[in-house]
Amino acid sequence: MSKLRINFLGKELKNPVITSSGCFGFGEEYNNYFDVDKLGAVNLKGITLKKRDGNKGIRIAETPSGMINSIGLENPGVEYFRDKIIGNLKYETPIILNINGESEEEYIAVAEIANEIERIDFIELNISCPNVKNGGMAFGINCKTAENLTKSVKKVLTKKPLIVKLSPNVTDITEIAKSVENAGADSVSLVNTFLAMKIDIKTKKPLLGNIFGGLSGGCIMPIAVRMVYQVFNAVKIPIIGMGGIENYNDALEFMMAGASLVSIGSGIFSNPILPIEVINGIENYIKENKIKDINELIGIAHK
Ligand SMILES: Cc1cc2nc3c(=O)[nH]c(=O)nc-3n(C[C@H](O)[C@H](O)[C@H](O)COP(=O)(O)O)c2cc1C
Repeated sequence: MSKLRINFLGKELKNPVITSSGCFGFGEEYNNYFDVDKLGAVNLKGITLKKRDGNKGIRIAETPSGMINSIGLENPGVEYFRDKIIGNLKYETPIILNINGESEEEYIAVAEIANEIERIDFIELNISCPNVKNGGMAFGINCKTAENLTKSVKKVLTKKPLIVKLSPNVTDITEIAKSVENAGADSVSLVNTFLAMKIDIKTKKPLLGNIFGGLSGGCIMPIAVRMVYQVFNAVKIPIIGMGGIENYNDALEFMMAGASLVSIGSGIFSNPILPIEVINGIENYIKENKIKDINELIGIAHK
């Protein structure tokens, strides 16, 4: 049996490497680059109740070692996804569905539909999107709203484990992590993007149509690793670590800080086969260092 296998919330994954929501479409787009079934799991683009066209104007800006995006949750809506997309996906690896809403009612409605889709293995509650006017991050930067929403969604999710995706745009991420754990979250994923902006010096105005966007990529990684390290000390539930992973060394840092799974986002845009390189890199590291089981690495930096 492969030494990379990992049990995550009762499900056996081939390895701890997954893709991040919004950076991997619905998975099919990458079939030409590699076999998607080699991934531990895939996390799909954030879904809302109704179709969304996303934000107007410029939605992406490059930064040193990263990017700012303000896509604004463009997606076809959960019913279209259920009826026209999920049944046609050709891969078999486990799926995480990232759910979103502008109100508690919308989150619950999406969760109810997602709960009945057999092909979905895990639900990720996104309370950290910085690119929508209502809902999103507003729920995730306050312990009480984060806790209440988690409780309400957990109640309707009778068939799937619940991961809550945390925002780094807070004073103390451990407080939010503890609140959602108390509310019944089975896992936390961190981090989403950092609220950021860029000014166009030619027009002397904000570049992005939405003015603000979320910063991701290599430039955020040391902050994300610090947050995973802190949250590992604060909660008992497993952590999905992400933020700026660009090679297998980065992924190992997240695992040593306390992540059970590592998720690859923006790095895929410049290197579409990055997830496979990370899987192979971790496998070689384990062999070279005579590590018997990948689980030994999780949180090892705390020992
Ligand atoms: C273009 C883009 C779209 C994203 N869309 C979503 C989304 O729909 N839901 C979500 O929870 N996170 C979304 N994210 C955040 C990523 O999943 C991830 O948390 C973040 O980018 C940090 O990881 P990275 O530095 O490896 O990209 C998006 C990020 C980018 C760059």
